[in-house]
Amino acid sequence: MPAIKSILHGSETFPPDAAFVEQSNLAGLASYHALCAEAERDYENFWGNLAKEQILWHKPFTRVLDESNHPFFKWFDDGQLNISYNCLDRHLVTQPDKVAIIFEADDGKVTRSTYRDLHRRVCQFANGLKSLDVGKGDRVIIYMPMSIEAIVAMQACARIGAIHSVVFGGFSAKSLHERIVDAGAVAVISADEQVRGGKSISLKSAVDEALSMGGVDSVRSVVIYQRSGKDSKCHTTRDVWWHDLIADKDDTYEPEWVNAEHPLFTLYTSGSTGKPKGVQHSSAGYLLGTLLSMKWIFDYKPADIFWCTADVGWVTGHSYVAYGPLAMGATQIIFEGVPTYPDSGRFWKIIQDHKVTTFYTAPTAIRSLIKSGPDLPGQFDLSSLRLLGSVGEPINPEAWMWYYTVVGQSRCPIVDTWWQTETGSHMLAPMPGAVPLKPGSCTFPLPGIMATIVDETGHEVENGKGGFLVIKRPFPSLARTLWGDPERFRKTYFPQDLGGKYYLAGDSASRDLDGYFWIMGRIDDVLNVSGHRLGTMEIESALVSNPLVAEAAVVGKPHDIKGEAIIAFVVLKGIRPHGEDAHNISVSLREWVTKEIGPIARPDEIRFGDNLPKTRSGKIMRRLLRAIARGEKITQDISTLENPAILEQLQQPIN
Ligand code: WT7
Repeated sequence: MPAIKSILHGSETFPPDAAFVEQSNLAGLASYHALCAEAERDYENFWGNLAKEQILWHKPFTRVLDESNHPFFKWFDDGQLNISYNCLDRHLVTQPDKVAIIFEADDGKVTRSTYRDLHRRVCQFANGLKSLDVGKGDRVIIYMPMSIEAIVAMQACARIGAIHSVVFGGFSAKSLHERIVDAGAVAVISADEQVRGGKSISLKSAVDEALSMGGVDSVRSVVIYQRSGKDSKCHTTRDVWWHDLIADKDDTYEPEWVNAEHPLFTLYTSGSTGKPKGVQHSSAGYLLGTLLSMKWIFDYKPADIFWCTADVGWVTGHSYVAYGPLAMGATQIIFEGVPTYPDSGRFWKIIQDHKVTTFYTAPTAIRSLIKSGPDLPGQFDLSSLRLLGSVGEPINPEAWMWYYTVVGQSRCPIVDTWWQTETGSHMLAPMPGAVPLKPGSCTFPLPGIMATIVDETGHEVENGKGGFLVIKRPFPSLARTLWGDPERFRKTYFPQDLGGKYYLAGDSASRDLDGYFWIMGRIDDVLNVSGHRLGTMEIESALVSNPLVAEAAVVGKPHDIKGEAIIAFVVLKGIRPHGEDAHNISVSLREWVTKEIGPIARPDEIRFGDNLPKTRSGKIMRRLLRAIARGEKITQDISTLENPAILEQLQQPIN
């Protein structure tokens, strides 16, 4: 495990202003500490009471936490519920006509769906899935653009007890295929096209390609939502149009009552091997995490207009688009397009037009908007905003200050939320009416989240020192396992080196002298590119699957907007290319990775060598490659390096 240096941090704090504190769900530091103390005092009852209070149970639970099969924990496991019932039916009595979703299409067209309407659509689609013989426990792949229909598809799966696995629309046919096969999906739900930034991209053709790759006999049905109507050809008997499927279907559907531990979804994410892992979440524990964070961190109020900009292909789009806001009965924005179309004022215009109160986005989006229009927010009326959020990567203090002063007009707290696909909901984040902010710090754990920092041997380090971020006790929204690979779950997240007891997050972090947490970066071979998690091994295996490539090593390098850029060092099977040749091969390899994984994984730069720097035992010395990629002078010890001459060669950029 790498040695970790602690870094010095500024100590300027931003306490919440009095007006915000006064209206907040949780006011003052003392009330935050009181909740934490309650969790410390009686951990099980703390969670048990919240689960009773927040969730509508079909059958109440009698057991809170079962740790007997560590680390495969169970929460509230003899209780029964339905997630879609908790997100929709519960609001039918109290607020059927409240708008649940304001959908803004790429071209600006706005559609609204009330809770009554959304419930009707979900029931109809659930009946449609049932008519295709999709039932409880079946896996359904959802590969859709941002749309009301994507939410309907997810909620309908939850209603019938099917396990959805959403695949981000930017992933290639090959990545889609890999996930369909791993999940053993019985159905794929997709669309003809997705429309972003004025351009249409076919999704259906990627589905067709994925299903032509073999090993997909489990797939019985493909449901296609007609987004544009342009790509309407080549339907086999397996395919059915969304509108045909629901045409004659009833608009009520008795929810399938499932046990608290029934899997709600799996979501594939990158790790340190070439194979993505299917992170599996529970029903009740997951829902509880999203509900509590909506209330505690987003300080949710019924009058809010909530906007999380994440795509449903990522966990943020699950917890804070498809589930959390609906379970709270919120009105939320769903936006189909991109922040820069038709111009870089789009986000600010949406906030103005729909009077958004709560805006949650990624630092990479903030940085790119600063670059393309630092003064643009000033041209819009952003006075509806009361809270801002950040997620996906550390937010640099410069971007934080701009977000705070220019977007939030120094009035809105920023909740910097640290969490992961595996944790299901926020873990470290400020309760905005309670915790004074420090730009760049995600502040403190949520009540009941026993986060700390340990050294290589699993011992807690004192404040001011860096180490590995861990969570000491199981918590309800933690992933239950990795789909089909429980051993990998145990080894990755509860490693023996640390005693096997703590959840190892995979990030390094430090706490300052005031106890604030600062995330320093990943400890594994995972890159964070524009807030997206990418395994270096995945990109390397995509590269070596190209017939020209003998060997490849991928590292990250800091990037102004994306956070990290992808640099690939490649050894070809033939001789090392030069000049125009090198340029052309580099272009085609970057294209190759786009086809293999998706545009998010395309290397920013490729460098060719006759070899890679290796130790005498044949291990690639990645830290040297990282230094080379960053253009740093090599100060590391290279005495164990088998082929020192290679370093100079790899220092030559070609594109
Ligand atoms: C990794 C998890 C959580 C939803 C989006 C990403 C990094 C996430 C923060 C933050 C610093 C952050 C971590 C983490 N990360 N949020 N606020 N500050 N780093 O989910 O794809 O599972 O990635 O994203 O490195 O481990 P994910």
